[in-house]
Amino acid sequence: MISKRSSVHGQWSSRWVFILAATGSAVGLGNIWRFPYLVGENGGGAFVLVYLICVVLVGVPIMMAEILLGRRGRQSPINTMSILAAEEGLSQYWQLIGWMGVIAGFIILSYYSVIAGWTLAYIFRTGAGAFIGADGGFSKNMFTELVSDPEKLLAWHTIFIVMSVVIVSRGVKGGLEIAVKFLMPALLILLLVMVGYAMSTEKFLEGITYLFVPDFERLADKNFFADILLPALGQAFFSLSIGMGAIMIYGSYLSQKSSITFNCFTIAIADTSVAMLAGIAIFPIVFTYGLEPAGGPGLIFITLPIAFGQMPFGTLFGTLFFILLLFAAWTSAISLLEPAVTWLIENKNMSRIKASTFAGVIAWTLGLVTVLSFNHWAFSFSFAGVDKENGFFDIFDILTSNILLPIGGLLIAIFAVWRMSRKSTAEELGLGDNISYRAWRFSVRYVAPFGVIVIFLNAIGVFKLLGFVEQ
Ligand code: PHE
Repeated sequence: MISKRSSVHGQWSSRWVFILAATGSAVGLGNIWRFPYLVGENGGGAFVLVYLICVVLVGVPIMMAEILLGRRGRQSPINTMSILAAEEGLSQYWQLIGWMGVIAGFIILSYYSVIAGWTLAYIFRTGAGAFIGADGGFSKNMFTELVSDPEKLLAWHTIFIVMSVVIVSRGVKGGLEIAVKFLMPALLILLLVMVGYAMSTEKFLEGITYLFVPDFERLADKNFFADILLPALGQAFFSLSIGMGAIMIYGSYLSQKSSITFNCFTIAIADTSVAMLAGIAIFPIVFTYGLEPAGGPGLIFITLPIAFGQMPFGTLFGTLFFILLLFAAWTSAISLLEPAVTWLIENKNMSRIKASTFAGVIAWTLGLVTVLSFNHWAFSFSFAGVDKENGFFDIFDILTSNILLPIGGLLIAIFAVWRMSRKSTAEELGLGDNISYRAWRFSVRYVAPFGVIVIFLNAIGVFKLLGFVEQ
């Protein structure tokens, strides 16, 4: 029987609004800020190739499972898991997926907001013409100067959290539609302008080769599982917004008639295209201006302003670019808050405004740790063969993307195809028992969990200990 539940938080007005909202959640700093710097830290083309494989084989099937659960439960992820577990006669411990997601959401938002704060700062810097004629050294200094000032970081972080709380407290459905309908395509156009500029730089080909051609020599001193596969898997989860309930809650507002399969492919293609365009725009600039690809989280904030300082109408394009990036971050941030906020509304009887403010305060407070990670509290350690310099920020980032999101996704996959009845999932996906349903089921049953588990075990060296991998 098709579930007759409806969400007390409302429904999307059409399938396209869902696709836009979910794309708004997926496309954000993850594509334009995080993807390029991870590519630079983890060896270029090989990382990109593995990333793409993870998106197709693990990301898309798990995204479908997550949306399916959300739409069937139609509540906050915690309560959705509780209802579905009860319905299928399973343990209430499955709620844990929802709880882990809420925790991951708070941690991600806490640092996401600080990075979004950099974007805010760069709108004004670029707008004021600060980068006209800038070279690599100048741009690097500007960035260092910003992050070494906790007061500034805190101010921008606070503004961004307030912006996110305002939208979530009014209900995500209203504001999102316009934001994503017009601003996403605008961001895409600006990325194309940047790609156009990158094509005019001396080292365009070098940049493209770095991005798309795996160079195994560069990987010689790396551990393939821990240094390439795990970060690529983590990035696939992070970029697609899966494994923590963001897409699940958006799925809970989706009408019963809409095709989950079509929606997921559309979202994944849009998300991946933006990441690739960002890479194509950035790496030629990195090489042309003698910058370090493994420059860490500051990479785009150091490279892109140089381009804006050199190209015609650069100040205008640059300012617009950072404004649009801010919107992209904003539409992601609200989806990070929504799972916790809906739970507070459902279980603690709070109004939306109260719940959003409460959740915002938690994320803001946790964000102080990231604010200090770039200056007073900075410390270095090594992870995945890369020196990480920003202490707790890097720990938060690794803990969420590489650990919590993949575990969340793994549990979602196990729940959807190992524990839930075949009938329920077939019904919810609306595919019947046809070949597409079977392909999905096979990938969520075997490919995705197997991929996550093997990557995890290898990354933590269990196989090595057991003697399965020769060293
Ligand atoms: N996908 C978002 C981005 O790429 C970040 C995000 C992660 C949003 C997890 C929601 C959940 O910027």
